[in-house]
Amino acid sequence: TKQKLWGGRFTGTTDPLMHTFNQSLAYDQRMHAADIKGSIAYAKGLKRVGILTEDEEAKMIAGLEAVGKEWEDGTFEPAPDDEDIHTANERRLSELIGPLGGKLHTGRSRNDQVATDMRLWLLEEIKDVENGLRELIRVMVERADKEKDYLMPGYTHLQRGQPIRWSHLLLSHAFSFRNDLERLQQLIPRVSVLPLGSGALAGNPFVVDREFLAKELGFQSVAENSLWGVGDRDFIVEFLMWSSLAMTHISRMAEDLIIYSTAEFGFVTLSDAYSTGSSIMPQKKNPDSLELLRGKSGRVFGNMAGFIMTLKGLPSTYNKDLQEDKEPLFDALVNVSTSFKIAEGVIATLDVHPEKMRKALTMDVLATDLADYLVRKGIPFRETHHISGRAVALAESRSCQLNELTLADYKTLNDKFSEDVHEVFDFEASVERRQAIGGPSRKMVDRQIAVLREALRG
Ligand code: ARG
Repeated sequence: TKQKLWGGRFTGTTDPLMHTFNQSLAYDQRMHAADIKGSIAYAKGLKRVGILTEDEEAKMIAGLEAVGKEWEDGTFEPAPDDEDIHTANERRLSELIGPLGGKLHTGRSRNDQVATDMRLWLLEEIKDVENGLRELIRVMVERADKEKDYLMPGYTHLQRGQPIRWSHLLLSHAFSFRNDLERLQQLIPRVSVLPLGSGALAGNPFVVDREFLAKELGFQSVAENSLWGVGDRDFIVEFLMWSSLAMTHISRMAEDLIIYSTAEFGFVTLSDAYSTGSSIMPQKKNPDSLELLRGKSGRVFGNMAGFIMTLKGLPSTYNKDLQEDKEPLFDALVNVSTSFKIAEGVIATLDVHPEKMRKALTMDVLATDLADYLVRKGIPFRETHHISGRAVALAESRSCQLNELTLADYKTLNDKFSEDVHEVFDFEASVERRQAIGGPSRKMVDRQIAVLREALRG
């Protein structure tokens, strides 16, 4: 059998199952472009410190580009002994350019190499995730703007509470996503730290110019400690935590829409594009898209919890356990970016039924407004809350709505009630009274839309 890259000190062969157990190429090949990019920068770094001549540097770069092209064209042929993307690329490079390929790894270790690849790869992916998130927010804001006037009950404890605008509810979720966008941008400086030049653990004896490497690869800063450089995976934990929180927001929004799409509520209907049927019950239209969004959030959280467990007991610097950083990260990434796209599609194609929302608005959701009415007549709120509660009880005992009680009825509860009490029973007016920042009045919904649009510009 051909010798492994690290085979010099070995006489025995690897157990076949161990060979497979150890291999990460099946999943880390998705970092092929980052690996080539990192190696090209490193070749330039080696030339600058005299390890490579100008001619060797040019040959090396051309070789690396050729290997990269094979990956892009789908013609790269892995060899049985390719352990990971790093060994695969180096093996192929040497096949293409001969012994010169063996100079590339001078002063470098797969430890600083893999940490560099992961960071480079994640930085690229974050751009996509960010775009997906922006699109989702945009669709929500547009929808809220168009459907600003639909009124519905707002709920606490899933019990009808006070009237709100549908747009206000939609925007409440958008604000969670706005913060996710902010948080995502804030973690970039901690991902964008260059490990390359940390060597296996103790730095680079050929004094490669790490600031040059950082510039070549677009990193914002350089790992200041080589042990940390090869051993740190906090940037992955942070991204997984970020993903878990963003998915939590997706999940809560999905849950709202699942409830609203039941026949019992009937506020929204999912488009066919995002629903499925039942194999036995012909009438069914199930919100599978929303349920999967809710379900994926558990899975992404699992990736985070699992990987942080992998890290917690590790000694300093590189340990092979760190190879377990990849699958949770890759899985989270795929699921988060797909979830944003699905959520965007669901929201964009949703059928909203304002008349059903309106119907769910029963007069009892104006009980707070009734108490507020008496507050305006000078009675302390704690008393008016009680009086309004008695009005609710009275209406309930007569199986009627608050607006069906007569002025005489109201007078029995408090003599400050007068003819104008009937102005309370107007949902639109209730919502419009809420003119303080953050409220569901038209003006304040417009303000929210403006704030979010501004965030999208940033
Ligand atoms: N495939 C390895 C990983 O993903 C690369 C680093 C291997 N380094 C080592 N010293 N075995 O972590």
